[in-house]
Amino acid sequence: MKIKKAVFPVAGLGTRFLPATKAMPKEMLPVVDKPLIQYAVEEALASGIEQIIFVTGSGKSALEDHFDTNRELERILKEKQKDTLLRSVQSIVPESLNIVYTRQSKPLGLGHAIWCARDIVGDEPFAVLLADDLLQSEVPPLYQMINEFDRLRSSMVAAMEVPSEETHKYGIIDPGLEIGGTVQVVNMIEKPSPKEAPSNLAVIGRYILTPRIFKHLERHQKGAGDEIQLTDAMSALLAEQPIFGYKFKGKRYDCGDKVGFQVANMAFALERPEMREELIENLRDLVG
Ligand code: G1P
Repeated sequence: MKIKKAVFPVAGLGTRFLPATKAMPKEMLPVVDKPLIQYAVEEALASGIEQIIFVTGSGKSALEDHFDTNRELERILKEKQKDTLLRSVQSIVPESLNIVYTRQSKPLGLGHAIWCARDIVGDEPFAVLLADDLLQSEVPPLYQMINEFDRLRSSMVAAMEVPSEETHKYGIIDPGLEIGGTVQVVNMIEKPSPKEAPSNLAVIGRYILTPRIFKHLERHQKGAGDEIQLTDAMSALLAEQPIFGYKFKGKRYDCGDKVGFQVANMAFALERPEMREELIENLRDLVG
């Protein structure tokens, strides 16, 4: 039961980043010099994923082009002997990777987006990656989770403690027994107020799901924000199968948020030796 397929829901409107996202998918916003979606795809590749399933919506052609060959650009880079740049554009999609696109015709929520991939996923466990959650770590977080999945053979979500006043932004776990960073999920609630939240342990955008989830998504039951929520389907799945929260090792940047996105840019730029010093000088100037 190797995890070979990963679903990337990329049909969101990105309203929080308007006007930047008027004609460009939010997943194409760059962190330093790479679009957000490429970080998530690289994480999937480094975790052994062989097939990527993009669930897109209208106005996402820039994303499709990014993961396609650009012959004209490659020809020019070759002519100008810009070898490093040439390699950087050629290596975006390794030959071993298979990419499939499907459409979510209506923005009915994350649960609905995953359901749109059901026929492509078929009857095997699969991963879900939300590109908004940019993770930085030595060992790719999805790889860490796949290792844990090999041991537990159950659905799993990446989990992280968040400030109690922010529970309304996340799926929140009602935690049971915890052993070595892996927490038994007793229940899950989508975006509860701090008062309703059973804990401050939040779901971060990496999932490994058994195909049984599609039975629950099929009901198209609406939840928080009047959307079909993955969290609700997982909560229903709990009646049949265990689910675990996995406290991954690494940092997380919330790139669905303007401040989080800027912080991510700074953090990733500071890691680049060729940018670091100049950036620190400029930051000092700016802060005064
Ligand atoms: C989604 C999920 C939520 C999860 C979050 C992680 O929410 O519905 O359960 O905690 O991603 O980033 P969104 O951020 O799309 O509103």
